[in-house]
Amino acid sequence: MNAESPLLVVANAKKSFGGIHAVSDVSLHLNQGETLGIIGPNGSGKTTLFNLITGLIRADSGQVSITGETANLLTLKPWEVFDKGISRTFQNIRLALGQTVLENVMVGGYTDCKTSWWSVLLRSGAVAARDAALREKSMNALSYVAPMLANTPHRAVGELSYADRRRVELARALVSEPRIMLVDEPAAGMNVRETDEISDDINKIASRGISILVIEHKMKFIASVAKRIIVLNFGKKIAEGSYEEVRVNPDVLASYLGRKGDHLAGAKQEASQ
Ligand SMILES: Nc1ncnc2c1ncn2[C@@H]1O[C@H](COP(=O)(O)OP(=O)(O)O)[C@@H](O)[C@H]1O
Ligand SMILES: [Mg+2]
Repeated sequence: MNAESPLLVVANAKKSFGGIHAVSDVSLHLNQGETLGIIGPNGSGKTTLFNLITGLIRADSGQVSITGETANLLTLKPWEVFDKGISRTFQNIRLALGQTVLENVMVGGYTDCKTSWWSVLLRSGAVAARDAALREKSMNALSYVAPMLANTPHRAVGELSYADRRRVELARALVSEPRIMLVDEPAAGMNVRETDEISDDINKIASRGISILVIEHKMKFIASVAKRIIVLNFGKKIAEGSYEEVRVNPDVLASYLGRKGDHLAGAKQEASQ
């Protein structure tokens, strides 16, 4: 596949909350097989952009399309976006802490609503076969991004470290075999070693041909997974280019001036929220 052909195109996405222009006319494209980094100070609209693309929040205007398809994803429901082959992880990890690792990963594979409620209640053969297939896929996803966790799939997620919970989320996002994965601050709250491991995981997922949009504050991390980076500030895209290009861009430097953390210099391995 051609690495330069756009797979996902965002055109003039816009969302205001009251007087705040959270996402202001943002346009970008994600190429087939590319990992695109998104950086920007806190509150610059990164997570809102993901929420718009995945249908969790309704956009005021704009267009998000997959090449060759007519649908504007901004008008779809979250499960319809998911059915297009787009999965995501969350900045604030969203897992059922009382459920097991395997159960949490399996949630990522429940794609279709075709199974009737009575066949689930009766545990019909079709449902049992589907569950078995999903269990196998979930174990494969776990083995891929979190081999250690695949050894203990029946542990409750609430017993896991923060880093392992992130890995469970990555496996959950992988189990549906998405075309596109949106990953929101995967290295938040992690130490240097864990951050390196998560960056390896992202690169492994990319090596499967999955196109990735990744938000992250840690510069070393973003440079290790993304060749191209876009920078948001106050909801607007202010720069785009390689890590080397954006880190010396005067607008980017100004946007970070006086803000918490010296992310651009990569001097601090600080965790965000
Ligand atoms: N659901 C919401 N309701 C109201 N304001 C929101 C909501 N989500 C985000 N915002 C505001 O939109 C702006 C962008 O937030 P966010 O997208 O979370 O930024 P980032 O992920 O870059 O830190 C912030 O000012 C934030 O307070
Ligand atoms: Mg955010």
